[in-house]
Amino acid sequence: MLYKITFSPTGGTDRIADLLGDYLSKSLKAKTSGINLLVRDPDRRQSLLRETDIAVIAMPVFGGRIPAVAASRLRMIRGNGSRAIVAAVYGNRAYDDSLRELADIAEASGFRVIAAIAAIAEHSIIHEIAQGRPDDEDRSQLARMTEEIAGKLDRNDDSRPSVPGSWPYKVFHGIPLGTYATDDCIFCTSCALECPVGAIPEERPNQPSNGSCISCMRCVAVCPVQARRPDDAVTEVIRHKISPVCVERKEAELFI
Ligand SMILES: Cc1cc2nc3c(=O)[nH]c(=O)nc-3n(C[C@H](O)[C@H](O)[C@H](O)COP(=O)(O)O)c2cc1C
Repeated sequence: MLYKITFSPTGGTDRIADLLGDYLSKSLKAKTSGINLLVRDPDRRQSLLRETDIAVIAMPVFGGRIPAVAASRLRMIRGNGSRAIVAAVYGNRAYDDSLRELADIAEASGFRVIAAIAAIAEHSIIHEIAQGRPDDEDRSQLARMTEEIAGKLDRNDDSRPSVPGSWPYKVFHGIPLGTYATDDCIFCTSCALECPVGAIPEERPNQPSNGSCISCMRCVAVCPVQARRPDDAVTEVIRHKISPVCVERKEAELFI
């Protein structure tokens, strides 16, 4: 079985995991199954892989790190010696220590990391950055990478790649962004139900997100009437700060 284990608030990470998973499952003729780490509170200690399974573990990069809630949910899964391809998905600024952190967590959870990928998807706060990615060029690069990975799996080569990143990891305190609802809110509660950390009260979904909000933009992405928005002033500060370092197109990288 090939497992896709993801935490993807706005879908970019899932798109990368799907590309990697689809190419690999075809090449290995393996069935696929998904483990969605956005879901709150299931008993993840039940998630026990077999040694013969393969996992694609994909996470978004927040402030150069893996979102803490995603990391703690991944730690509850038992890899049981299965081989893993880890992918850190970022918005064309930088992935800093996130790929190394993800590889370290996967190994601590019992996976054997045989390949690591840094890939780019549209920036989930500043959408004009890396807009439309992954695109055709990304797709062909990722396809070539999966051929290499399939070859390594075929050879039963379980060596751990050298993954960039430093330890102690970069410190990320979160960003004081949060979201609010405009008067267009129709009280459907999608945002409250889909929030990975329960930061919007179900009984009052038109309220701003509370202190547990991780600014992941899930609520903005799932609102059917586009009534949910990130704080406008803070968004402008972020746009101003990161746009200059996001101009140059970054490409996916494979460490194998
Ligand atoms: C809170 C937050 C912090 C982010 N930090 C970074 C970052 O440090 N570097 C970067 O290149 N992109 C960053 N991004 C962009 C995301 O990594 C990127 O858009 C990713 O594809 C989002 O995954 P998703 O579409 O699965 O939610 C950040 C996004 C959010 C919401």
